[in-house]
Amino acid sequence: MFCVIKSAAQKVPSAPMLPLVISVKQKLGLVWSSGALWKEQRTFASTTLRKFGFGKRCLQTQIMEEVDCLMEKLEKFGSKPFDIQDTLNASVSNVICSFLFGKRFEYEDSTFKRLITLLHNLFTTTNVSSPVVIFPVLRFLPMFKVTTIRKIVNDIYEFIKEKIEEHRQNFDESNINDFIDAFLLEQTKKVENSTFTDEQLIITIKEFFAAGTETTSTTLRWALLFLIHHPDWQTKLQRDIDEVIGQGHPTMEHKDQLPSVEAFTLEVQRLANVTPHAAPHAPTEDFYYKGYFIPKGTFMIISLDSVMNDPNIFPEPHKFNPERFLNDRGVCGGEQKDKLLPFSAGRRVCLGESLAKMELFLFLTRFLQKFRIKPENPDCVPPLEGTLGLTNFPKSYNLILLKR
Ligand code: HEM
Repeated sequence: MFCVIKSAAQKVPSAPMLPLVISVKQKLGLVWSSGALWKEQRTFASTTLRKFGFGKRCLQTQIMEEVDCLMEKLEKFGSKPFDIQDTLNASVSNVICSFLFGKRFEYEDSTFKRLITLLHNLFTTTNVSSPVVIFPVLRFLPMFKVTTIRKIVNDIYEFIKEKIEEHRQNFDESNINDFIDAFLLEQTKKVENSTFTDEQLIITIKEFFAAGTETTSTTLRWALLFLIHHPDWQTKLQRDIDEVIGQGHPTMEHKDQLPSVEAFTLEVQRLANVTPHAAPHAPTEDFYYKGYFIPKGTFMIISLDSVMNDPNIFPEPHKFNPERFLNDRGVCGGEQKDKLLPFSAGRRVCLGESLAKMELFLFLTRFLQKFRIKPENPDCVPPLEGTLGLTNFPKSYNLILLKR
């Protein structure tokens, strides 16, 4: 994979520090940790995800319950134009909140609403390839909004700390309900130099909460926008879904019977390119790559973008063409599917990949079963242009959902 390599942002003078740099320097959580800590914590996180149903049938049921709550809420908009962002974010976030905190939140819950907004602001104001990451001195300029970002991160931490404290108060080791409980149980083992510290817990929750909400929700918002731009594809997908499922609940067993839905989703992921820079990494040892010397500790930004738009893999890369993922028999697969890397690759591949794929399929299929998605103004369709923050997100837009 082609890598863009930027100079190290290691020597950072006194406060206020860039939150991204603080995260990197803490070396805690999953995204910014490495070595033995990362290995132990990644194993623990994936085991706990599986224990609470990831990849199992019960998770599907939980996601579908959330999808149904969302559909009910959306029906209330009638045929009025509205921006779906906050409602969709809340719904997607609830899936990960159930795993982390053992509960979902009402969309109207004011604390939850505020948290979702903070998270969205964090994703839209932070950019890993921003000049301020390379030249930390720029953080003093108001345009880089460092103080705003710091405040957002602190507020998110406060919410998480509160939830951990509630769990600590009610902790019962014979009743482990969610990720926080499972982590607190590990803490009771009192292992010397344990990686299960309070700080590690807070940061991991923040990362799960952030990674599990904005990425998936942003991909869905792109998918709705592509459906608005390509009503022919909307008709095709609806026809296929009507034939295979009708109005019954979609399940993952339907996915293979709906190759068009998968091909459409893959093409959206390719063009929307929600995480074009994956997560930055730094090598722990000096090494050579294609003749370039890369010293230990270099801040490296991985360009997934270069893969998604590689004309050797995806001919006419800027053209929306889900057919590229379908073979002559209409089956979704082949080299192009294998080479698409929206979740990155290797040992650091996205931990939530299977959950995200499940969510994308179930949310999108239900949307198409329930609604015809239309632009607010057919003469002025919102642009398919992204803005780069921590994710590549579409500009805010209004849509109309017409009940089918
Ligand atoms: C469409 C949705 C998603 C996309 C496009 C996506 C993409 C990514 C990418 C590109 C990375 C960086 C991999 C690297 O470092 O090279 C990543 C890491 C990660 N993602 Fe996702 N993600 C999505 C959904 C989720 C969900 C739902 C979760 C929650 C369970 C999640 C949890 C994580 C975690 C914990 C990491 C850090 C893994 C590690 O460094 O060991 N992601 N994701």
